[in-house]
Parts: sequence; structure tokens; C-alpha cells
Amino acid sequence: MHTISFITALLFSLFAITHALPEASPDIVPILEARKNGNGGNSTRGNGTNGNSVNKACRTMAKLTKLTNLAANQTKLDAMIASGKINATEVDAIKAKAANATSELQTMQSNTTLVSECAVVDAHQAVLKECKQMTKLTKLADLATNQTAMDALMQKKNLNDTQMAKLQERIANATTKLKTLQGNTTLTDLCTQQAQQKGKSQCLVIPRVWRPQAMITMLTLYRLFF
Ligand SMILES: *[C@@H]1O[C@H](CO)[C@@H](O)[C@H](O)[C@H]1NC(C)=O
Ligand SMILES: *[C@@H]1O[C@H](CO)[C@@H](O)[C@H](O)[C@H]1NC(C)=O
Ligand SMILES: *[C@@H]1O[C@H](CO)[C@@H](O)[C@H](O)[C@H]1NC(C)=O
Ligand SMILES: *[C@@H]1O[C@H](CO)[C@@H](O)[C@H](O)[C@H]1NC(C)=O
Ligand SMILES: *[C@@H]1O[C@H](CO)[C@@H](O)[C@H](O)[C@H]1NC(C)=O
Ligand SMILES: *[C@@H]1O[C@H](CO)[C@@H](O)[C@H](O)[C@H]1NC(C)=O
Ligand SMILES: *[C@@H]1O[C@H](CO)[C@@H](O)[C@H](O)[C@H]1NC(C)=O
Ligand SMILES: *[C@@H]1O[C@H](CO)[C@@H](O)[C@H](O)[C@H]1NC(C)=O
Ligand SMILES: *[C@@H]1O[C@H](CO)[C@@H](O)[C@H](O)[C@H]1NC(C)=O
Ligand SMILES: *[C@@H]1O[C@H](CO)[C@@H](O)[C@H](O)[C@H]1NC(C)=O
Repeated sequence: MHTISFITALLFSLFAITHALPEASPDIVPILEARKNGNGGNSTRGNGTNGNSVNKACRTMAKLTKLTNLAANQTKLDAMIASGKINATEVDAIKAKAANATSELQTMQSNTTLVSECAVVDAHQAVLKECKQMTKLTKLADLATNQTAMDALMQKKNLNDTQMAKLQERIANATTKLKTLQGNTTLTDLCTQQAQQKGKSQCLVIPRVWRPQAMITMLTLYRLFF
């Protein structure tokens, strides 16, 4: 008898968890992202078991390349000083760091396997960035045709006329940019694929995140029954 009740409780708790998921998903997305790219887990990008270490090497190489390019671009450094972003002391530090990184960067760049792997990784990252940008632009552009949302935003932000005009301009710009991006079917297809993959990986990971919740639900139901 108790066994049957227990199984019923178990089934109820599973039902409860499954139905709690859709609402909970947005909150756990950051956790999933962190897990996916984080220290412990295997990367979902790249094929080999060393996917993570390649990703890491690519990030290092991108960072060092950026640093080296910046240190060599006096125009940009001058502009950054002029705008008060950095001072002369920091410029010296940047140059010293870049000089110190030269040999490490050269070693990495001489590894043709790594360079070609990073080209793939970087392209993937660039697409991800574009997809995110499209999502953002869509939200902004949607305001142009949704007076309700527009009014709500105005009220919430308490915008004055100047700010309002600026927002209208941003919306118009977003609409133009979005149209250009959406005209690229290669990109839109990749974004669709990406969204589907993300959906799949979430389904796989969510149960782990929700294990504590499952325990609580089970215990609650167990107490109800016995
Ligand atoms: C990464 O994946 C490999 C092979 O699939 C596995 O042997 C290894 O334990 C995984 N590492 C982690 C931290 O999950
Ligand atoms: C990695 O996987 C992708 C698709 O899953 C494939 O197109 C690519 O050729 C693979 N790369 C290597 C080096 O195996
Ligand atoms: C230096 O930086 C400026 C932007 O501040 C950029 O327009 C220019 O192309 C850069 N020069 C080089 C050689 O990368
Ligand atoms: C430059 O900026 C750094 C960090 O913001 C600061 O610690 C330093 O005192 C500044 N140096 C000069 C000469 O202003
Ligand atoms: C120079 O680079 C090495 C290895 O990349 C690092 O351990 C060291 O701290 C760096 N030195 C300076 C002054 O940045
Ligand atoms: C070159 O890069 C590949 C991929 O990251 C790595 O497996 C290999 O060990 C590297 N080769 C050398 C000589 O460092
Ligand atoms: C307009 O925006 C509101 C609030 O964000 C939203 O609830 C509504 O579904 C939107 N209407 C259309 C037609 O997109
Ligand atoms: C609108 O608000 C901005 C920021 O609060 C302010 O700088 C600006 O002077 C305001 N303009 C008018 C016309 O009130
Ligand atoms: C809109 O786009 C134009 C042209 O690209 C640019 O000059 C302007 O600063 C943009 N406005 C806003 C508010 O982003
Ligand atoms: C379309 O997007 C893809 C992926 O970002 C990019 O590689 C390609 O150059 C774009 N095509 C055009 C015509 O902009």
C-alpha cells in the first residue's frame, strides 16, 4: 500500500517539475550559459575532447592580438588619452605588456592547426554575437509598431522630448539595421539553428539544476501521503 502511494507521489512530483520548467527557464539561462562555457564542463563547441582547451587558447590569442594591435596603434591610443579613458602611464603599461606578449603570440600564430581552429571558433562567436544583436534590435524595432509598449516605456523611463527624439532615432536606426541583417539568410538560418541547439542543451541540463526542487516536492508529497 505504502509502495503504491509512494509511487503516486513520485509521479506527481515528476509532473510538477515538468510543468514548472517553462516559467523557470529564463532565470536559469545564465546558469546554463555559465555551465556550458565554464571551467568544469566540456564545451559544446568544437569537436574533440580538448574543445575547452582550444577555446581557451583561442581566447588568449584573440586577447593578445587585440593588445598588440592596440599598442601599435598610436592614433587609437592618442584618442583614448584625449577622451580621458586612459592616461600616459597606462599607455606605457599597455606597450610593456604587448612587448612581453610578443613571443607568446608568435608561438601561437605559428601553430597552423590552432590558427585554423580559432578561425572556426571566432566565426562561430561572431555569429552568436550577431544573433544576439538581432534579438536586441528586434525588441527595439518592435516599438515602432507597438504604441502600447512605447507608451509603457515612456512612462517607465519618464522621457523628456529630447530623449524621446533620440529614442525615435534609435528605433529608426534599429529598424534599418535589422532589415539589413534579416536580408542575410545565411545569418538568419544560423541563428535559427543556434536557437534550436540552445533549446536542446537546456532540456539536457535542466533536470540537474532542478534536482533540489525535485527533492523538496517529493518530500512534501511524501509527508502528505504518510
Ligand atoms: C569531457 O568529455 C570527455 C569525453 O566525452 C570525458 O571523458 C570527460 O570526463 C569530460 N570532462 C568533464 C569535465 O566533463
Ligand atoms: C566539427 O563538427 C562540425 C559539425 O558538427 C563539422 O562540420 C566539422 O568538420 C568538424 N571539425 C572537425 C575538425 O572534425
Ligand atoms: C587604429 O585605430 C583606428 C580607430 O581608432 C582605426 O580606424 C585604424 O584602422 C587603426 N589602425 C590600424 C593600423 O589598425
Ligand atoms: C593613471 O591612471 C591610473 C589608473 O586609473 C592611476 O592609478 C594613475 O595614478 C594615473 N597616473 C597619472 C600620472 O595620472
Ligand atoms: C611577461 O609574460 C610572462 C608570461 O606570459 C608573465 O609570466 C609575466 O608576468 C609577464 N611580465 C610582465 C611584466 O608583464
Ligand atoms: C597546436 O595547436 C593544437 C590545437 O590547439 C594543439 O593540439 C597542438 O598541441 C599545438 N601544437 C604545438 C606544437 O603547440
Ligand atoms: C505590444 O507590447 C505589449 C507590451 O510589451 C505586448 O503585450 C503586446 O503583445 C505587443 N503587441 C504586439 C502586436 O506585438
Ligand atoms: C532631458 O533629459 C536629459 C537627461 O536627463 C537632460 O540632459 C536634458 O537637458 C533634458 N532636456 C530637456 C529639453 O528637458
Ligand atoms: C542613427 O544612425 C545614424 C547614421 O548611421 C547615426 O549618425 C546616428 O548617431 C544614429 N542615432 C542613434 C541615436 O543611434
Ligand atoms: C551573412 O552572414 C554571414 C554570417 O555572419 C557572413 O559570413 C556573411 O558574410 C554575410 N553575408 C553578407 C552578404 O553580408
